[in-house]
Amino acid sequence: MPDFTVTPYAVEGEVDYDRLLDRFGADALTDEQLSKFPRPPHPLLRRRVFYAGRDVDRFAEAAAAGRPTSIVTGRGPSGPMHLGHILPFYFAKWLQEETGAHVYVPLSDDEKYFAKDLTFDEIREHTRENVRDLVAVGFDPARTRIVVDTADADVIYPLAATFAKEITQATVNATYGEPPNVGLSFYPAVQTAHLLLPQLVRGRHPTLVPIAVDQDPHVRVSRDVAAKRRYGVDKPGALLSKFLPRLSGGGGKMSTSDEEPSILLTDDRETVREKVMRYARSGGRADVAEHREKGGDPAVDVAYQLLFYFFEDDDATVERLAREYREGTLLTGELKEYAAERIADFLDAHQSRRPEGSVAEAVAPYRLTAAERERLRPRAL
Ligand code: TRP
Repeated sequence: MPDFTVTPYAVEGEVDYDRLLDRFGADALTDEQLSKFPRPPHPLLRRRVFYAGRDVDRFAEAAAAGRPTSIVTGRGPSGPMHLGHILPFYFAKWLQEETGAHVYVPLSDDEKYFAKDLTFDEIREHTRENVRDLVAVGFDPARTRIVVDTADADVIYPLAATFAKEITQATVNATYGEPPNVGLSFYPAVQTAHLLLPQLVRGRHPTLVPIAVDQDPHVRVSRDVAAKRRYGVDKPGALLSKFLPRLSGGGGKMSTSDEEPSILLTDDRETVREKVMRYARSGGRADVAEHREKGGDPAVDVAYQLLFYFFEDDDATVERLAREYREGTLLTGELKEYAAERIADFLDAHQSRRPEGSVAEAVAPYRLTAAERERLRPRAL
């Protein structure tokens, strides 16, 4: 038995991120690759939360040279979105601002229906709420498309059918484990359609998929399909991230389905504070006297990790907090207060951009245009 499992449908055990790269055959991100991104690189990059990738150079060089590039990063609408879910989207937004990249955001409502014990009505409700959060990120509508598998089935289904023919059941079993139903057997063809969509709309160009490392199997499948030259596309590249730690610490990923609470994008300041204070695993000592004497361990402190991953932009502040915590001058409660404030500030800004009212209206500027649909959709009638 392997001591940890990572697939799009199961993350179990203490994840060894370096060994995972050997298993998956992806490459650790190098300093040289990092230097090709806009300066200063986004904290998720410069702090190596995005720690690995595939064909990163091709994308970064094209983006730096002002050539066309695209980003695809999606969402499986199985529940409300929490902090960990939104990070790749803010990263994509940063890249879009810095480089003009087009961004595609697919929502795989079909995938979550196949994978979870939820009705289609429930999934639809999550999809609608998730779309509000995705719109709140503030992408440029002229260069961003939000696609929902069942709502944009006129485009997605013919493409998925095309790619499904390239993917054998044996490949699916070897890549994901044996699927529980034929829906999930087929779904890799759908996600392949997502990942190739930018090039099918605008022609061959470098595409980057910034996602948590558990999604890499989908990237591998799409790259194998793209390698068949008949589709006129290049293999999409990827930037693979570690998981934002769960509040209780540990190596798994933050999850909305477990007992343990996670911080939701709709939480107010008081709820954020309460969750951080109560549930965030501390790297501090048993009591204040011992903490002042021996100091704490930022490496296992979840409040610190959240600041380091994303919520404190300033490197000098991050370093100071780590130092003071290790020295024992900064107490667990103080560190938690600070983290809760930063997270609540982020969520205030996010929530102020979150559209209320009609989802259809909010998403309209981001939907595929008639011309784009025409280009993508083979028509029988
Ligand atoms: N499969 C992803 C998940 O379960 C969601 C998703 C769909 C996605 N299409 C994508 C992620 C394309 C990245 C790129 O969360």
